[in-house]
Amino acid sequence: MAKNIKNVIAVGSGKGGVGKSTVAVNLALALKQEGFKVGLLDSDIYGPSIPIMFGIKEGEKPTVTKENRITPLMRYDMPLMSMGFLLQQREAVIWRGPMLGKMLQQFLEQVDWGDLDYLVVDLPPGTGDVQISLAQMIPLSGAVVVTTPQDVAMVDVIRAIRMFEMTKVPLLGIVENMSYFQAPDQKYYIFGGGEDKSRYQKLGLSFLGEFPLEVETRVGGDEGIPIVVKAPQSTQAKRFAGLAKQIVASLKTRTTGNDLELPSLH
Ligand SMILES: Nc1ncnc2c1ncn2[C@@H]1O[C@H](COP(=O)(O)OP(=O)(O)O)[C@@H](O)[C@H]1O
Ligand SMILES: [Mg+2]
Repeated sequence: MAKNIKNVIAVGSGKGGVGKSTVAVNLALALKQEGFKVGLLDSDIYGPSIPIMFGIKEGEKPTVTKENRITPLMRYDMPLMSMGFLLQQREAVIWRGPMLGKMLQQFLEQVDWGDLDYLVVDLPPGTGDVQISLAQMIPLSGAVVVTTPQDVAMVDVIRAIRMFEMTKVPLLGIVENMSYFQAPDQKYYIFGGGEDKSRYQKLGLSFLGEFPLEVETRVGGDEGIPIVVKAPQSTQAKRFAGLAKQIVASLKTRTTGNDLELPSLH
């Protein structure tokens, strides 16, 4: 592991499509806006979305020096590395554990990240062997779990938390995404859950904040200009700034691992 990276923050989720990459990307940029040196590693080899979220063109690839060092792509003065940069035409890959491990090790050791205060890692969704070995391979300072408010997602969340617990990765807390849609008249809790967030506290989890469903956030992801960059004064961007501040504070004070009482899963 590169000695010049001070903190590695993993962004995980129990399942795909909950906005893990959206949170990882905007969190990284929000940390950057707080004045830190930040890099972003997309380890979601099954569905890398960082190339699209940063508007990376098909032919744009990291370069390799004679000494076999990989120069990451840069966006907004932030180094980026993604499996998606190495694939042709968004081809599908079937990776097996050892190959994947090797690839990740390369991403961490061979990539010239420079000096970083934070490396944000977008983990693959789910809690299979792959995710567990990733969590073991990368010395993570802490993990953030992203979820939507649905109960079914909560089951996935508990699985994701257990995974970090098993691998001794400190859990920084939960981010609830797609919490509601703000219509002119009222908030619509499309995925349930509602305003009361005690369901997280009941599990002993730190609740790091809610992010509503928002057209601009989705467009930002699709057009390759993340909301935090496109509209830094927007309420959504300010929520990401708040998340970044909480994570910085929590990493400063955290010395122990998780101590959670979770309901058992079958
Ligand atoms: N808060 C949000 N508001 C609107 N769209 C969102 C929000 N969060 C995520 N999305 C959109 O939902 C889709 C899935 O998000 P993504 O971050 O790719 O999820 P994951 O990485 O968990 O699979 C993307 O099209 C993204 O732009
Ligand atoms: Mg993703």
